[in-house]
Amino acid sequence: MAEPVNGFSKLTKNQKIEWLAKNHFINKEEGIKTLEQYWNKDAKLQALHDEFIENTISNFYLPLGIAPNFLINQKYHTIPMAIEESSVVAAAGKAAKYWQQRGGFKTKILGTEKIGQVHFMYHGDASKLKSFFTEVEPKLYKATETITENMRKRGGGISTIELRNKTSQLDNYYQLHCTFETLDAMGANFINSCLEAIAKTFSAEAHQNSLFSPEEKNIEIVMSILSNYVPNCVVKAEVSCKIEELNEDKNLNPQEFADKFVRAVAIANAEPHRAVTHNKGIMNGVDAVVLATGNDFRAIEAGAHAYASKSGSYKSLTHAEIKDGIFKFWIEIPLALGTVGGLTSLHPLVKLSLEILDKPSARALMQIIAVAGLAQNFAAVRSLITDGIQKGHMKMHLMNILNQLGATAEEKAYFVDFYKNKTITHSNVIKEFNDLKAKNV
Ligand code: MEV
Repeated sequence: MAEPVNGFSKLTKNQKIEWLAKNHFINKEEGIKTLEQYWNKDAKLQALHDEFIENTISNFYLPLGIAPNFLINQKYHTIPMAIEESSVVAAAGKAAKYWQQRGGFKTKILGTEKIGQVHFMYHGDASKLKSFFTEVEPKLYKATETITENMRKRGGGISTIELRNKTSQLDNYYQLHCTFETLDAMGANFINSCLEAIAKTFSAEAHQNSLFSPEEKNIEIVMSILSNYVPNCVVKAEVSCKIEELNEDKNLNPQEFADKFVRAVAIANAEPHRAVTHNKGIMNGVDAVVLATGNDFRAIEAGAHAYASKSGSYKSLTHAEIKDGIFKFWIEIPLALGTVGGLTSLHPLVKLSLEILDKPSARALMQIIAVAGLAQNFAAVRSLITDGIQKGHMKMHLMNILNQLGATAEEKAYFVDFYKNKTITHSNVIKEFNDLKAKNV
């Protein structure tokens, strides 16, 4: 069991590792060696990574893959994806190729509004608060002028500040609901700095307001923070083609395939258990690009799932229909992203990923990431309604199993060929591997 430790963050990196090894590692030397194996030889680069967070002891690698051939609005894109799940990049590549031959992906930004809120408690007459807000509103914009100056020059800034009475949800609870345009920045720091300045002025002005009673003057600012629920920062991506252009897919003719596909999406719309997995498949594509481009995948996840529940029950983020002989499949997803600021100019692989994407604006990145999500969902649903998911998944997972077994390059090549037309299961690979080893002994 670990000993409690004081002032841990002040220790040197080596002291931290020593403490860790002493308290947690089964084999001290092995554990330290593993950590050190992942240090970058370039001390400057390692220092950069060390300083991203507190108490860095090593780097945690994820593969960075690329999926080429994404035809989006008639322009080709190569999409970088950082992800550990074996089949995701392969599925993206397949879906890209499939739709490349059928007109590609089309996208549209539906909105780019970001949101932040000052949450406060007010004990008193709501109509007095309303008149106070009307009077003080220009001062709230004024209080943020130095923060918003650069953003305003480029066409962004605070769009609206609205007083919202939330007392029906919670006694004495009100908020300043603010909307922002943050252009190419994700804008978290910008929004939070604006909100804190707004809150400070709002509270100070309330104290000086002669119409308020002493109790009313005493507005309590509980917190000022952006919201990751951004239902008006949304992008739509779609694919469509004539039914007859869909593949003969295994045992399904194009019409049967389209009908079954639409039914599968309808099931995800009707049934939350399926919707969660369906949307998880979408997020396989979304998160991989979000990570590769240095964006905040937790924010994207939280916002996407809240959006999926906006009707009151959790539903699919994608939709499918057949109309006048045309199969159409689309996604609408909120994506608050940045292509400047944050990690984008710091992490060398993030910089390179953005270069792979031709240095997109935040709007362009929203469209690319929505496509990555739609493509991933298409690939998953297509597999599910035809071969089943395991065939493709296990094909990609085979390498992981062989690596776990310590297979040589020769043995890996042998098993890739061996399983070309056979069903792969974990136990079956172990058995075949052991049989091969026994034969060779
Ligand atoms: C696995 O990571 C994702 C899927 O389960 C998605 C889905 O079921 O649609 C295959």
